[in-house]
Amino acid sequence: MEQKRASWSGQLAFVLAAAASAIGLGNLWRFPYLAAQYGGGTFILVYLCLVVTLGFTLMLSEIAIGRKTQQSQLTAYNELKGHGGLKLLGLVATIIPVLITPYYCVIGGWVLYYLKAYALMAFTGAAPMGAEAANSGAFFSGFIGAPFAPFGYAMIFILACACVILMGVKNGIEKSNLVMMPILFLMAIAICVYVIFMPGSGEGLKYYLVPNKDAISVNGQFSFALLGKTILGAMGQMFYSLSLAMGIMVTYGSYMKKQDSIERCVRRIEVFDTLIAIIAGLMIIPVVYMFAVKTGTPVKEAMNAGPGLMFITLPKVFATFGAAGAWVGLAFFLLVTFAAATSAISLFEACVASVCDVIKIERKAATFFTTALILFLAVFSALGFGAWGSITLWKMDFLTFFDFITNSVLMPITAAATCIFIGWILKPKAIIDEVEAEGNKFKSKGLYVVMVKYFAPALVIAILVSEVCRALGIGGWKI
Ligand code: PHE
Repeated sequence: MEQKRASWSGQLAFVLAAAASAIGLGNLWRFPYLAAQYGGGTFILVYLCLVVTLGFTLMLSEIAIGRKTQQSQLTAYNELKGHGGLKLLGLVATIIPVLITPYYCVIGGWVLYYLKAYALMAFTGAAPMGAEAANSGAFFSGFIGAPFAPFGYAMIFILACACVILMGVKNGIEKSNLVMMPILFLMAIAICVYVIFMPGSGEGLKYYLVPNKDAISVNGQFSFALLGKTILGAMGQMFYSLSLAMGIMVTYGSYMKKQDSIERCVRRIEVFDTLIAIIAGLMIIPVVYMFAVKTGTPVKEAMNAGPGLMFITLPKVFATFGAAGAWVGLAFFLLVTFAAATSAISLFEACVASVCDVIKIERKAATFFTTALILFLAVFSALGFGAWGSITLWKMDFLTFFDFITNSVLMPITAAATCIFIGWILKPKAIIDEVEAEGNKFKSKGLYVVMVKYFAPALVIAILVSEVCRALGIGGWKI
Protein backbone atom coordinates (compact mmCIF):
# COMPACT_ATOMS: atom_id res chain seq x y z
CA MET A 1 0.00 0.00 0.00
CA GLU A 2 1.50 3.32 -1.03
CA GLN A 3 1.18 6.03 1.57
CA LYS A 4 1.70 9.77 1.54
CA ARG A 5 5.27 10.50 2.60
CA ALA A 6 5.60 11.79 6.14
CA SER A 7 7.10 15.22 6.71
CA TRP A 8 8.56 17.23 9.55
CA SER A 9 6.30 19.89 10.95
CA GLY A 10 8.84 22.59 10.12
CA GLN A 11 12.43 23.69 9.72
CA LEU A 12 13.14 23.65 13.44
CA ALA A 13 11.82 20.11 13.81
CA PHE A 14 14.10 19.02 11.01
CA VAL A 15 17.18 20.71 12.47
CA LEU A 16 16.42 19.22 15.86
CA ALA A 17 15.96 15.73 14.42
CA ALA A 18 19.16 15.85 12.40
CA ALA A 19 21.07 17.30 15.35
CA ALA A 20 19.59 14.60 17.58
CA SER A 21 20.91 12.01 15.17
CA ALA A 22 24.31 13.65 14.98
CA ILE A 23 24.76 14.18 18.70
CA GLY A 24 25.53 10.81 20.18
CA LEU A 25 28.20 8.61 21.63
CA GLY A 26 30.59 10.01 19.05
CA ASN A 27 30.40 13.46 20.61
CA LEU A 28 30.38 12.44 24.23
CA TRP A 29 32.89 9.70 24.26
CA ARG A 30 34.95 9.59 21.07
CA PHE A 31 35.59 13.29 20.47
CA PRO A 32 37.11 14.02 23.91
CA TYR A 33 39.59 11.18 23.80
CA LEU A 34 40.60 11.88 20.22
CA ALA A 35 41.11 15.55 21.06
CA ALA A 36 43.25 14.62 24.03
CA GLN A 37 45.27 12.22 21.94
CA TYR A 38 45.85 14.55 18.98
CA GLY A 39 47.05 17.66 20.75
CA GLY A 40 43.94 19.36 22.17
CA GLY A 41 43.39 22.68 20.42
CA THR A 42 45.26 21.47 17.34
CA PHE A 43 42.71 18.72 16.84
CA ILE A 44 39.81 21.04 17.55
CA LEU A 45 41.02 23.52 14.92
CA VAL A 46 41.52 20.83 12.29
CA TYR A 47 38.13 19.37 13.13
CA LEU A 48 36.39 22.74 12.81
CA CYS A 49 37.96 23.38 9.40
CA LEU A 50 36.80 19.99 8.18
CA VAL A 51 33.26 20.39 9.48
CA VAL A 52 32.65 23.67 7.67
CA THR A 53 34.05 22.39 4.37
CA LEU A 54 33.88 18.62 3.90
CA GLY A 55 31.16 17.94 6.45
CA PHE A 56 29.09 20.77 4.99
CA THR A 57 29.46 19.40 1.46
CA LEU A 58 28.47 15.86 2.30
CA MET A 59 25.60 16.71 4.58
CA LEU A 60 24.14 19.20 2.15
CA SER A 61 24.41 16.68 -0.69
CA GLU A 62 22.67 13.92 1.22
CA ILE A 63 19.83 16.10 2.43
CA ALA A 64 19.31 17.55 -1.05
CA ILE A 65 19.22 14.07 -2.61
CA GLY A 66 16.60 12.97 -0.10
CA ARG A 67 14.43 16.01 -0.58
CA LYS A 68 14.71 15.96 -4.35
CA THR A 69 13.79 12.31 -4.73
CA GLN A 70 11.45 12.00 -1.75
CA GLN A 71 12.96 8.59 -1.15
CA SER A 72 15.25 6.96 1.34
CA GLN A 73 18.82 6.05 0.51
CA LEU A 74 18.04 2.62 -0.87
CA THR A 75 16.33 3.94 -3.98
CA ALA A 76 17.16 7.66 -3.99
CA TYR A 77 20.50 7.51 -5.86
CA ASN A 78 19.06 5.38 -8.63
CA GLU A 79 16.04 7.64 -8.91
CA LEU A 80 18.34 10.56 -9.79
CA LYS A 81 19.97 8.84 -12.73
CA GLY A 82 18.96 5.22 -13.30
CA HIS A 83 22.09 3.10 -13.38
CA GLY A 84 22.99 -0.33 -12.03
CA GLY A 85 25.92 1.07 -10.06
CA LEU A 86 23.65 3.47 -8.27
CA LYS A 87 21.39 0.65 -7.16
CA LEU A 88 24.46 -0.87 -5.59
CA LEU A 89 25.39 2.43 -3.92
CA GLY A 90 21.87 2.61 -2.48
CA LEU A 91 22.16 -0.92 -1.23
CA VAL A 92 25.51 -0.29 0.47
CA ALA A 93 24.15 2.91 2.04
CA THR A 94 21.27 0.84 3.41
CA ILE A 95 23.37 -2.00 4.72
CA ILE A 96 25.40 0.45 6.82
CA PRO A 97 22.62 1.45 9.24
CA VAL A 98 21.43 -2.16 9.33
CA LEU A 99 24.88 -3.16 10.58
CA ILE A 100 25.44 -0.16 12.85
CA THR A 101 22.06 -0.10 14.64
CA PRO A 102 22.52 -3.44 16.44
CA TYR A 103 25.94 -2.71 17.90
CA TYR A 104 25.06 0.91 18.65
CA CYS A 105 22.10 -0.40 20.65
CA VAL A 106 24.36 -2.85 22.46
CA ILE A 107 26.46 0.10 23.62
CA GLY A 108 23.17 1.85 24.42
CA GLY A 109 22.45 -1.15 26.66
CA TRP A 110 25.78 -0.68 28.47
CA VAL A 111 24.83 2.93 29.07
CA LEU A 112 21.43 1.89 30.46
CA TYR A 113 23.14 -0.47 32.86
CA TYR A 114 25.33 2.35 34.18
CA LEU A 115 22.32 4.64 34.39
CA LYS A 116 20.55 2.09 36.55
CA ALA A 117 23.63 1.65 38.77
CA TYR A 118 24.00 5.41 39.33
CA ALA A 119 20.25 5.85 39.91
CA LEU A 120 20.42 3.17 42.61
CA MET A 121 23.45 4.81 44.16
CA ALA A 122 21.92 8.28 44.10
CA PHE A 123 18.44 7.40 45.33
CA THR A 124 18.95 4.43 47.63
CA GLY A 125 22.56 4.82 48.65
CA ALA A 126 23.18 1.27 47.43
CA ALA A 127 26.61 0.58 46.02
CA PRO A 128 26.25 -1.70 43.01
CA MET A 129 29.52 -0.29 41.79
CA GLY A 130 31.61 -0.51 44.95
CA ALA A 131 34.75 1.60 44.87
CA GLU A 132 36.80 -1.49 44.35
CA ALA A 133 34.83 -2.75 41.37
CA ALA A 134 34.89 0.70 39.80
CA ASN A 135 38.60 1.03 40.35
CA SER A 136 39.59 -2.23 38.87
CA GLY A 137 37.27 -2.01 35.90
CA ALA A 138 35.67 -5.25 37.14
CA PHE A 139 32.23 -3.67 37.11
CA PHE A 140 32.50 -3.14 33.38
CA SER A 141 34.19 -6.36 32.39
CA GLY A 142 31.87 -8.36 34.64
CA PHE A 143 28.86 -6.88 32.87
CA ILE A 144 29.95 -7.17 29.25
CA GLY A 145 31.19 -10.68 29.89
CA ALA A 146 27.93 -11.84 31.51
CA PRO A 147 26.02 -14.56 29.70
CA PHE A 148 22.74 -12.75 29.12
CA ALA A 149 22.67 -9.28 30.69
CA PRO A 150 24.33 -7.36 27.81
CA PHE A 151 21.70 -8.66 25.43
CA GLY A 152 18.91 -8.03 27.92
CA TYR A 153 19.80 -4.37 28.25
CA ALA A 154 20.33 -4.01 24.50
CA MET A 155 16.87 -5.49 23.99
CA ILE A 156 15.27 -2.92 26.31
CA PHE A 157 17.07 -0.17 24.40
CA ILE A 158 16.02 -1.55 21.00
CA LEU A 159 12.38 -1.99 22.00
CA ALA A 160 12.23 1.55 23.39
CA CYS A 161 13.54 2.94 20.09
CA ALA A 162 11.12 0.74 18.15
CA CYS A 163 8.19 2.21 20.11
CA VAL A 164 9.20 5.74 19.09
CA ILE A 165 9.56 4.69 15.45
CA LEU A 166 6.18 3.01 15.55
CA MET A 167 4.58 6.28 16.52
CA GLY A 168 5.78 7.88 13.30
CA VAL A 169 7.87 10.80 12.14
CA LYS A 170 5.85 13.64 13.68
CA ASN A 171 4.38 11.94 16.73
CA GLY A 172 7.30 9.67 17.52
CA ILE A 173 10.64 11.06 16.42
CA GLU A 174 9.79 14.76 16.61
CA LYS A 175 8.09 14.59 20.00
CA SER A 176 10.73 12.41 21.62
CA ASN A 177 13.42 14.82 20.43
CA LEU A 178 11.49 17.70 21.86
CA VAL A 179 11.74 16.09 25.30
CA MET A 180 15.19 14.54 25.15
CA MET A 181 17.23 17.21 23.40
CA PRO A 182 16.60 20.13 25.79
CA ILE A 183 17.33 17.87 28.78
CA LEU A 184 20.51 16.73 27.06
CA PHE A 185 21.66 20.33 26.54
CA LEU A 186 20.85 21.35 30.09
CA MET A 187 22.66 18.37 31.60
CA ALA A 188 25.69 18.96 29.41
CA ILE A 189 25.91 22.62 30.38
CA ALA A 190 25.31 21.89 34.07
CA ILE A 191 28.04 19.23 34.25
CA CYS A 192 30.40 21.40 32.24
CA VAL A 193 29.91 24.36 34.62
CA TYR A 194 30.37 22.06 37.62
CA VAL A 195 33.67 20.81 36.21
CA ILE A 196 35.00 24.21 35.19
CA PHE A 197 34.45 25.53 38.71
CA MET A 198 36.10 22.56 40.38
CA PRO A 199 39.27 23.69 42.10
CA GLY A 200 42.29 22.71 40.02
CA SER A 201 40.47 22.28 36.70
CA GLY A 202 42.61 24.97 34.99
CA GLU A 203 45.51 22.71 34.01
CA GLY A 204 43.18 20.15 32.44
CA LEU A 205 41.33 22.86 30.54
CA LYS A 206 44.63 24.10 29.18
CA TYR A 207 45.58 20.58 28.18
CA TYR A 208 42.35 20.32 26.21
CA LEU A 209 42.04 23.73 24.63
CA VAL A 210 45.52 25.06 23.95
CA PRO A 211 46.92 23.83 20.62
CA ASN A 212 49.78 21.50 21.37
CA LYS A 213 52.58 21.61 18.82
CA ASP A 214 53.85 18.18 19.83
CA ALA A 215 50.92 16.60 18.07
CA ILE A 216 52.22 17.80 14.71
CA SER A 217 55.96 17.97 15.21
CA VAL A 218 58.85 15.66 15.99
CA ASN A 219 61.74 17.09 18.01
CA GLY A 220 60.43 20.58 17.35
CA GLN A 221 60.32 20.01 13.58
CA PHE A 222 56.97 20.30 11.87
CA SER A 223 55.91 16.88 10.56
CA PHE A 224 53.59 16.46 7.59
CA ALA A 225 53.04 12.82 8.48
CA LEU A 226 51.74 13.70 11.93
CA LEU A 227 49.55 16.48 10.56
CA GLY A 228 48.18 13.96 8.04
CA LYS A 229 47.32 11.55 10.82
CA THR A 230 45.58 14.28 12.79
CA ILE A 231 43.57 15.26 9.71
CA LEU A 232 42.59 11.66 9.04
CA GLY A 233 41.64 11.11 12.66
CA ALA A 234 39.51 14.26 12.65
CA MET A 235 37.91 13.33 9.36
CA GLY A 236 36.85 9.88 10.51
CA GLN A 237 35.40 11.43 13.63
CA MET A 238 33.55 14.03 11.62
CA PHE A 239 31.81 11.45 9.43
CA TYR A 240 30.68 9.47 12.38
CA SER A 241 29.67 12.44 14.43
CA LEU A 242 27.59 14.09 11.72
CA SER A 243 25.90 10.76 10.86
CA LEU A 244 27.12 11.04 7.28
CA ALA A 245 27.53 8.44 4.55
CA MET A 246 24.93 6.04 5.79
CA GLY A 247 21.73 7.35 4.34
CA ILE A 248 20.31 8.89 7.48
CA MET A 249 20.48 12.41 6.12
CA VAL A 250 18.97 11.23 2.81
CA THR A 251 16.02 9.75 4.66
CA TYR A 252 15.62 12.74 6.97
CA GLY A 253 15.95 15.09 3.98
CA SER A 254 13.14 13.26 2.24
CA TYR A 255 10.78 14.44 4.99
CA MET A 256 11.86 18.06 4.56
CA LYS A 257 9.62 20.70 3.05
CA LYS A 258 10.60 22.45 -0.18
CA GLN A 259 10.43 25.97 1.19
CA ASP A 260 13.01 25.36 3.93
CA SER A 261 16.63 26.35 3.33
CA ILE A 262 18.88 23.31 3.27
CA GLU A 263 22.02 25.41 3.60
CA ARG A 264 20.85 27.20 6.71
CA CYS A 265 19.72 23.92 8.27
CA VAL A 266 23.08 22.27 7.62
CA ARG A 267 24.97 25.14 9.22
CA ARG A 268 22.78 24.93 12.32
CA ILE A 269 23.13 21.17 12.63
CA GLU A 270 26.91 21.58 12.45
CA VAL A 271 26.91 24.21 15.15
CA PHE A 272 24.83 22.05 17.53
CA ASP A 273 26.87 18.95 16.93
CA THR A 274 30.24 20.63 17.31
CA LEU A 275 29.13 22.56 20.37
CA ILE A 276 28.14 19.40 22.19
CA ALA A 277 31.40 17.69 21.19
CA ILE A 278 33.44 20.59 22.56
CA ILE A 279 31.33 20.74 25.73
CA ALA A 280 31.83 16.98 26.18
CA GLY A 281 35.58 17.58 26.16
CA LEU A 282 35.14 20.37 28.71
CA MET A 283 33.33 18.02 31.06
CA ILE A 284 35.55 15.00 30.64
CA ILE A 285 39.13 16.07 30.01
CA PRO A 286 39.75 18.30 33.05
CA VAL A 287 38.43 15.66 35.48
CA VAL A 288 40.43 12.87 33.89
CA TYR A 289 43.49 15.12 33.94
CA MET A 290 43.08 15.93 37.63
CA PHE A 291 42.49 12.27 38.38
CA ALA A 292 45.62 11.25 36.49
CA VAL A 293 47.73 13.79 38.36
CA LYS A 294 46.26 12.72 41.70
CA THR A 295 46.81 9.03 41.15
CA GLY A 296 50.17 9.38 39.45
CA THR A 297 48.92 7.86 36.17
CA PRO A 298 50.61 9.32 33.09
CA VAL A 299 48.14 11.82 31.63
CA LYS A 300 48.45 10.44 28.12
CA GLU A 301 47.72 6.94 29.31
CA ALA A 302 44.61 8.03 31.23
CA MET A 303 43.31 9.93 28.19
CA ASN A 304 44.07 7.13 25.76
CA ALA A 305 41.80 4.67 27.51
CA GLY A 306 39.70 4.46 24.32
CA PRO A 307 36.36 2.74 24.89
CA GLY A 308 37.29 2.34 28.55
CA LEU A 309 37.33 6.11 29.02
CA MET A 310 33.60 6.36 29.54
CA PHE A 311 32.92 3.03 31.19
CA ILE A 312 36.01 2.56 33.34
CA THR A 313 37.97 5.80 33.79
CA LEU A 314 35.03 8.17 34.33
CA PRO A 315 33.36 6.00 37.00
CA LYS A 316 36.71 5.93 38.81
CA VAL A 317 36.80 9.71 38.61
CA PHE A 318 33.22 10.08 39.84
CA ALA A 319 34.04 7.79 42.75
CA THR A 320 36.54 10.40 43.96
CA PHE A 321 33.83 13.10 44.14
CA GLY A 322 32.40 11.71 47.37
CA ALA A 323 28.64 11.96 47.86
CA ALA A 324 28.23 14.15 44.78
CA GLY A 325 29.71 11.38 42.62
CA ALA A 326 26.49 9.38 42.39
CA TRP A 327 24.54 12.44 41.23
CA VAL A 328 27.15 13.59 38.74
CA GLY A 329 27.29 10.01 37.42
CA LEU A 330 23.51 9.88 37.19
CA ALA A 331 23.32 13.18 35.31
CA PHE A 332 26.15 12.15 33.02
CA PHE A 333 24.69 8.77 32.10
CA LEU A 334 21.22 10.25 31.64
CA LEU A 335 22.76 12.64 29.17
CA VAL A 336 24.54 9.80 27.41
CA THR A 337 21.37 7.67 27.36
CA PHE A 338 19.41 10.43 25.63
CA ALA A 339 22.20 11.13 23.17
CA ALA A 340 22.52 7.46 22.30
CA ALA A 341 18.75 6.95 22.07
CA THR A 342 18.13 9.85 19.69
CA SER A 343 20.96 8.63 17.45
CA ALA A 344 19.75 5.05 17.53
CA ILE A 345 16.25 6.24 16.61
CA SER A 346 17.63 7.89 13.49
CA LEU A 347 19.51 4.75 12.54
CA PHE A 348 16.37 2.71 13.06
CA GLU A 349 14.37 5.14 10.96
CA ALA A 350 16.86 4.85 8.09
CA CYS A 351 16.34 1.07 8.12
CA VAL A 352 12.55 1.24 8.44
CA ALA A 353 12.19 3.87 5.71
CA SER A 354 14.17 1.72 3.29
CA VAL A 355 12.05 -1.32 4.02
CA CYS A 356 8.91 0.80 3.43
CA ASP A 357 10.26 2.22 0.18
CA VAL A 358 11.28 -1.07 -1.29
CA ILE A 359 8.59 -3.51 -0.29
CA LYS A 360 5.93 -0.84 -0.07
CA ILE A 361 4.58 -2.21 3.17
CA GLU A 362 3.07 -0.19 5.94
CA ARG A 363 5.30 1.52 8.45
CA LYS A 364 4.03 -0.67 11.26
CA ALA A 365 4.86 -3.92 9.53
CA ALA A 366 8.23 -2.53 8.43
CA THR A 367 9.02 -1.58 12.02
CA PHE A 368 8.25 -5.08 13.32
CA PHE A 369 10.35 -6.66 10.62
CA THR A 370 13.28 -4.30 11.23
CA THR A 371 13.10 -4.73 15.00
CA ALA A 372 13.28 -8.50 14.67
CA LEU A 373 16.29 -8.22 12.37
CA ILE A 374 18.08 -5.79 14.67
CA LEU A 375 17.41 -7.92 17.74
CA PHE A 376 18.86 -10.90 15.93
CA LEU A 377 22.00 -9.05 14.82
CA ALA A 378 22.45 -7.49 18.26
CA VAL A 379 22.93 -10.93 19.79
CA PHE A 380 26.36 -11.19 18.15
CA SER A 381 27.73 -7.88 19.43
CA ALA A 382 26.11 -8.35 22.84
CA LEU A 383 27.61 -11.75 23.46
CA GLY A 384 30.92 -11.11 21.71
CA PHE A 385 32.68 -10.23 24.97
CA GLY A 386 31.26 -13.11 26.96
CA ALA A 387 29.61 -16.30 25.79
CA TRP A 388 30.95 -15.92 22.25
CA GLY A 389 34.17 -14.26 23.27
CA SER A 390 36.26 -16.94 21.65
CA ILE A 391 34.89 -16.18 18.18
CA THR A 392 36.80 -13.51 16.29
CA LEU A 393 36.69 -12.17 12.76
CA TRP A 394 40.06 -10.99 11.50
CA LYS A 395 41.17 -10.89 15.13
CA MET A 396 38.27 -8.60 16.07
CA ASP A 397 35.33 -9.31 18.37
CA PHE A 398 31.92 -8.93 16.72
CA LEU A 399 31.31 -5.37 17.89
CA THR A 400 34.72 -4.13 16.80
CA PHE A 401 34.30 -5.94 13.52
CA PHE A 402 30.93 -4.36 12.72
CA ASP A 403 32.34 -0.99 13.71
CA PHE A 404 35.36 -1.45 11.46
CA ILE A 405 33.44 -2.70 8.43
CA THR A 406 30.99 0.19 8.58
CA ASN A 407 33.11 3.13 9.70
CA SER A 408 36.37 2.31 8.04
CA VAL A 409 35.28 0.57 4.87
CA LEU A 410 31.65 0.97 3.82
CA MET A 411 31.17 4.59 4.91
CA PRO A 412 34.22 6.00 3.10
CA ILE A 413 33.22 4.00 0.00
CA THR A 414 29.69 5.42 0.13
CA ALA A 415 30.94 8.95 0.73
CA ALA A 416 33.49 8.81 -2.10
CA ALA A 417 30.97 7.27 -4.50
CA THR A 418 28.38 9.90 -3.58
CA CYS A 419 30.82 12.76 -4.28
CA ILE A 420 32.06 11.29 -7.54
CA PHE A 421 28.49 10.68 -8.61
CA ILE A 422 27.39 14.22 -7.82
CA GLY A 423 30.57 15.94 -8.99
CA TRP A 424 31.12 14.11 -12.23
CA ILE A 425 28.07 12.13 -13.33
CA LEU A 426 24.97 13.92 -12.09
CA LYS A 427 26.83 17.29 -11.93
CA PRO A 428 26.58 19.65 -8.95
CA LYS A 429 23.92 21.74 -10.70
CA ALA A 430 21.21 19.23 -9.80
CA ILE A 431 22.01 19.64 -6.12
CA ILE A 432 22.40 23.41 -6.42
CA ASP A 433 18.96 23.66 -8.04
CA GLU A 434 17.46 21.70 -5.18
CA VAL A 435 19.12 23.92 -2.58
CA GLU A 436 17.93 27.03 -4.43
CA ALA A 437 14.37 25.72 -4.79
CA GLU A 438 11.60 28.22 -4.01
CA GLY A 439 13.99 31.17 -4.11
CA ASN A 440 16.35 30.03 -1.34
CA LYS A 441 19.90 31.40 -1.52
CA PHE A 442 22.98 29.17 -1.72
CA LYS A 443 25.80 31.29 -0.29
CA SER A 444 28.59 28.73 -0.32
CA LYS A 445 27.94 27.53 -3.85
CA GLY A 446 31.54 28.01 -5.04
CA LEU A 447 32.95 26.17 -2.05
CA TYR A 448 30.46 23.38 -2.58
CA VAL A 449 31.37 22.78 -6.22
CA VAL A 450 35.12 22.70 -5.58
CA MET A 451 34.71 20.44 -2.58
CA VAL A 452 32.34 17.96 -4.15
CA LYS A 453 34.36 17.59 -7.34
CA TYR A 454 37.93 17.53 -6.09
CA PHE A 455 38.68 17.72 -2.40
CA ALA A 456 35.94 15.55 -0.95
CA PRO A 457 36.61 12.43 -3.05
CA ALA A 458 40.38 12.77 -2.56
CA LEU A 459 40.13 13.20 1.20
CA VAL A 460 37.64 10.39 1.61
CA ILE A 461 39.71 7.97 -0.44
CA ALA A 462 42.68 8.88 1.77
CA ILE A 463 40.69 7.80 4.84
CA LEU A 464 39.71 4.55 3.20
CA VAL A 465 43.28 3.65 2.25
CA SER A 466 44.72 4.61 5.61
CA GLU A 467 42.04 2.77 7.60
CA VAL A 468 42.40 -0.42 5.64
CA CYS A 469 46.21 -0.23 5.88
CA ARG A 470 45.93 0.34 9.59
CA ALA A 471 43.62 -2.61 10.10
CA LEU A 472 45.76 -4.92 8.04
CA GLY A 473 48.94 -3.57 9.61
CA ILE A 474 50.39 -2.40 6.30
CA GLY A 475 53.09 0.27 6.20
CA GLY A 476 53.35 0.79 9.94
CA TRP A 477 50.22 2.95 9.99
CA LYS A 478 48.90 3.64 13.40
CA ILE A 479 46.24 6.21 13.99
N1 PHE B 1 26.39 10.60 14.98
C1 PHE B 1 26.25 9.72 16.07
C2 PHE B 1 27.25 10.04 17.16
O1 PHE B 1 27.93 11.00 17.15
C3 PHE B 1 26.49 8.33 15.75
C4 PHE B 1 25.70 7.78 14.73
C5 PHE B 1 26.33 7.03 13.87
C6 PHE B 1 24.38 8.03 14.64
C7 PHE B 1 25.66 6.50 12.90
C8 PHE B 1 23.69 7.51 13.67
C9 PHE B 1 24.34 6.77 12.80
O2 PHE B 1 27.35 9.25 18.06
